[in-house]
Amino acid sequence: MSGNLKGKNIVLGVSGGISAYKSADLLRLLMKEGATVKVAMSANAKKFITPLTFRALSGSPVYQNVFEEIGDDAMEHIRFAEQADLMAVVPASANSIAKMAHGLADDALSTLFVSFSGKVLVAPAMNDKMYSNPAVTENINKLKSRGIFIVEPEYGKLACGAEGKGRLAELEIILKEIIAQFCQKADLAGKKIIVTAGPTREPIDPVRFISNRSSGKMGYAIASEASKRGGEVTLISGPTNLVSPPGIETLYCECAEEMRRLVFDKFSQCKALIMTAAVGDFSPENYEENKIKKNLNGGNVLKLKRNPDILSEIATRKDGQIVVGFAAESENVFENALEKLQKKSMDLIVANNIAKPEIGFGSDYNEATFIKKDQQIRYLDRMPKTELANLLLDEIAELIEVG
Ligand SMILES: Cc1cc2nc3c(=O)[nH]c(=O)nc-3n(C[C@H](O)[C@H](O)[C@H](O)COP(=O)(O)O)c2cc1C
Repeated sequence: MSGNLKGKNIVLGVSGGISAYKSADLLRLLMKEGATVKVAMSANAKKFITPLTFRALSGSPVYQNVFEEIGDDAMEHIRFAEQADLMAVVPASANSIAKMAHGLADDALSTLFVSFSGKVLVAPAMNDKMYSNPAVTENINKLKSRGIFIVEPEYGKLACGAEGKGRLAELEIILKEIIAQFCQKADLAGKKIIVTAGPTREPIDPVRFISNRSSGKMGYAIASEASKRGGEVTLISGPTNLVSPPGIETLYCECAEEMRRLVFDKFSQCKALIMTAAVGDFSPENYEENKIKKNLNGGNVLKLKRNPDILSEIATRKDGQIVVGFAAESENVFENALEKLQKKSMDLIVANNIAKPEIGFGSDYNEATFIKKDQQIRYLDRMPKTELANLLLDEIAELIEVG
């Protein structure tokens, strides 16, 4: 891979974290792709890596001090910001993320960020406890809701010796995501796309419900990527902790019946329906108005009924729409997915094995197989959900085109 960033001006923002040394490698990778890179550093980043390293590698002065002129220009941050096509903050510390979320501008990196109006990509890296702190989550969600692309950190061994989520994403993945910011396709322009996401909650009584482990991440990634490709996206979401991507109509629901109603309301106007939601198969036969007492019937209180199968019902209402389903299976993945595809007259099914701990529910990665109605099969390696979303959207754009 080389030349993918030819002619692009990128600001690499470096903040003060243990993985700051990796940004020197990222700088080299970006330049190898043909980008012109200028580096901006937070005051604390200089405690981890010297500006001299970046200056030597990039061949350009490093923006590191708001009150020091580079050449004869006292407004260097404005110049930096005006010239860049993209700003990538790698690594992004908890502190710098907080400053970006709140618009603080007290050093070179944060001042440049506030002055910059183009695309921004942020790759957080920190200790797992820091990463799971609700304040950090809230700040990251704020950035996401403003359209900033977050390259999620990975799960693994951390510099502090702990194991958890917080390690800077692989540089190859960050590089791919940076390149992807410039390769936005517009093949879904004006096309109405419905994406369902997340779990459903089937109420038992006012305090209890039956649900499942779906995080909604796959559906939200598809909705977000489809919107970037020009799609007019409606996201129908069960309860998740995710932030609605910018520019998307998001309709929220709780139970399978509510999701069904929303899908049917919108289906006739859409070009494609992508059902990633893990819709509950069962719900309690009776909803109890009052909280069920714990000693009722010795605990033998739940009788379940089958929920409506949205995909099977949709199959009878299809009028040219492309319908895509997901099969989250833990055994006989391929056979079960194929049977589902045929039974429910889908155009494509995405099969994945949720028994694998490193992919599927809750993970930012997925490993899937696409099976089309003509039984064409495409096996895919483990990859970030955003990348998988784009591969799926390539297939959908083609299916829409063929009609
Ligand atoms: C050895 C060491 C490693 C650190 N690593 C990280 C890190 O990986 N991520 C992080 O958010 N903070 C880390 N910190 C804390 C930050 O350096 C600190 O919060 C600092 O204020 C960040 O400043 P900045 O965001 O302005 O660069 C580390 C601190 C030390 C002493």
